[in-house]
Amino acid sequence: MNETKLKDLLEQMTFDEKIAQLMQLATPFFEGAESEGQITGPLAGLGLNEEEISNSGSVLGASGAKEVINIQKAYLKKNRLGIPLLFMADVVHGYKTIFPVPLAIGCSWDLELAEKSAEIAAKEASVSGVHVTFAPMVDLVRDPRWGRVMESTGEDSYLNSLFAKAFVRGFQGSSLENEAYRVAACVKHFAAYGAPEGGRDYNTVNMSERELRQSHLPAYKAALDEGCEMVMTAFNTVDGIPATGNKQLMRDLLRDEWKFDGVLISDWGAVKEMIPHGVAADESEAALKAIEAGVDIEMSTSCYVKNLKMLVDNGSVSEEIINESVLRILKLKDKLGLFENPYRDANEELEQKLVMSEEHRQSAYELATKSCVLLKNEQVLPLNTEQKIALIGPFAVNGDILGPWSWLGSKEDAVTLVDGFKTKLDQANLFTAKGADIDTITEEQWQEAIQVAEQADIIVLALGEHSDMSGEAGSRADIRLPEAQLTLISKLKDLRKPIVTVLFNGRPLDLHGVIEHSNAILEAWFPGTEGGAAIADLLYGDVNPSGKLTMSFPHSVGQVPVYYNHFNTGRPKDASDAQVRYVSQYLDIPNEPLFPFGFGLSYTSFSYRELSLSSEVVTPTEPITVSVQVENTGNVAGEEVVQLYVRDVAAEVVRPLKELKGYEKIWLEPGEAKTVSITITEESLRYHHANLEYKSDRGEFFVYVGSNSQQVQAASFVLEK
Ligand code: GLC
Repeated sequence: MNETKLKDLLEQMTFDEKIAQLMQLATPFFEGAESEGQITGPLAGLGLNEEEISNSGSVLGASGAKEVINIQKAYLKKNRLGIPLLFMADVVHGYKTIFPVPLAIGCSWDLELAEKSAEIAAKEASVSGVHVTFAPMVDLVRDPRWGRVMESTGEDSYLNSLFAKAFVRGFQGSSLENEAYRVAACVKHFAAYGAPEGGRDYNTVNMSERELRQSHLPAYKAALDEGCEMVMTAFNTVDGIPATGNKQLMRDLLRDEWKFDGVLISDWGAVKEMIPHGVAADESEAALKAIEAGVDIEMSTSCYVKNLKMLVDNGSVSEEIINESVLRILKLKDKLGLFENPYRDANEELEQKLVMSEEHRQSAYELATKSCVLLKNEQVLPLNTEQKIALIGPFAVNGDILGPWSWLGSKEDAVTLVDGFKTKLDQANLFTAKGADIDTITEEQWQEAIQVAEQADIIVLALGEHSDMSGEAGSRADIRLPEAQLTLISKLKDLRKPIVTVLFNGRPLDLHGVIEHSNAILEAWFPGTEGGAAIADLLYGDVNPSGKLTMSFPHSVGQVPVYYNHFNTGRPKDASDAQVRYVSQYLDIPNEPLFPFGFGLSYTSFSYRELSLSSEVVTPTEPITVSVQVENTGNVAGEEVVQLYVRDVAAEVVRPLKELKGYEKIWLEPGEAKTVSITITEESLRYHHANLEYKSDRGEFFVYVGSNSQQVQAASFVLEK
């Protein structure tokens, strides 16, 4: 339908019909709903009447072709103008075939597989009736106490921006109008939700506009530059004003400066939450602030429906801005073809055929093998099938490996770690015991674990966090493994057998009590439906680990936030001189993280030689190429992520000691060497100045190339303008 027809439709709508389009309700409100849908927030009594419900514009969390078709059919019978419902849901890292959590996908540094995972998620979700997914989440994260770090791709805005684009491409394809089996994407949470004080979810976010623009905004902008259709507001304040009512952020920056004219949806209840935030006296003031900020859809509360009419009647709100919001929603429905086909791709037969198909599971397996990170290996990995293995721990047989945002993912469908081991070993060589639950242990449990371990050559521990120990509202102040699991390790270490620890967790952990007793550690995060198969293949060397951390592991929570792209300070600690006191340091732990950004081991080794620059001068018209020769010096093939970082030595504002500016993931056979070349442009050296102007300065830069953000070779160049 063209814009004129949409405007004609808008003209025909009553005021009540218009404001009902601005409300999104969870599935149970709708006739035809068979399931409770996905409830992801407090379900306050909304006091809605039948007409308000039957005119509401979109549904949250419905799924299943049959249910969606039933709801849409029942809805269209009552909707006077035949305006179809939009069906939205959280398909974050898979619909039913669950991929590793996004933080794990980030550690793959594989944009193609990331895009593929979103494409598959969109295919499964679309035939199941979903039109819009609330993803990608691109919040920059530096504090592992926050439960939602698992939903982000990490601490670097450049890498997060690349992944944001890849996910949007996968979800939306090149054209929502012309491509089937795609869904509209909704980038979230705008903005800076990943920086709550104390790492406590929903808490205050306090930062300068310059830091916001420099570090936190690029990934949202990248998603929108890739054509992302929607934006979701964040729960938190930005500079003292809740994002959902923040005109400077939403009207001035998102809509006027960035020219975003898509649909802006609040997060669950975030409009009404302006009351407890303390910027709205009641729901009418909350509605006023949100609509003035340009929020088009109110998720799961009814401030708009209950107050906008009064606000227009008393002149507080112009009907024009309501018309603008309704038109944006009608345009999205039109772009999805819903006026012609209100059911879009919902198709029970295709649902049966595509959802959880072998092909999809294979993709989930492949991405899981690339997302795990080998953190430690004292020559105990890879395992061999002659060894007797004691597989012990709450995650030995536990299917809770899908993560906290896996919604329709079924734990029963997940390949557990013991399933994976059973494909490697005959029963005679595999002994299993739980040893402990996630956060409790009994003497009987650890005694059984010891008995099992005594029969084995090697102990493989499967430990971690329950999926609800991270995710939304999943913040933890103590980010060690639960005490029960640390007790289990301490019981088993006395057997003096090699211990391989596999971790299933939604955040970088404080590994005290684990690192000192493990001869090898594989970080598996929440690896998804095929997790057990992927991990077994990694542990037995059928696949060589290639994951690299995109979020630092702290020495302890006392070090948080710790991230690689930090500033130098005026009194940097000189690692070579520990005696100096008056420098920026802790008296009890190092400044550096336990495992830095970009870190990950392989079963082979790589050497970096012959770092060279095509020139030592970059100009706005003349980029330079940085080259390095990388050789596989081991005896197995493997993948290496060659990383390039830059430091602006003297700028107008302090600049990070290192910033990732490029990387290349390469495959090398044993003995093979390749020259990797990465370009540095003047544009890549720009930053936000004190007056927020985004530009580069001439002067000296250091360039670093290496296997992670600490192990690098250095050179320098100058920017001339
Ligand atoms: C939740 C989350 C958001 C999600 C939304 C809908 O509260 O913050 O990420 O998309 O509600 O489920």
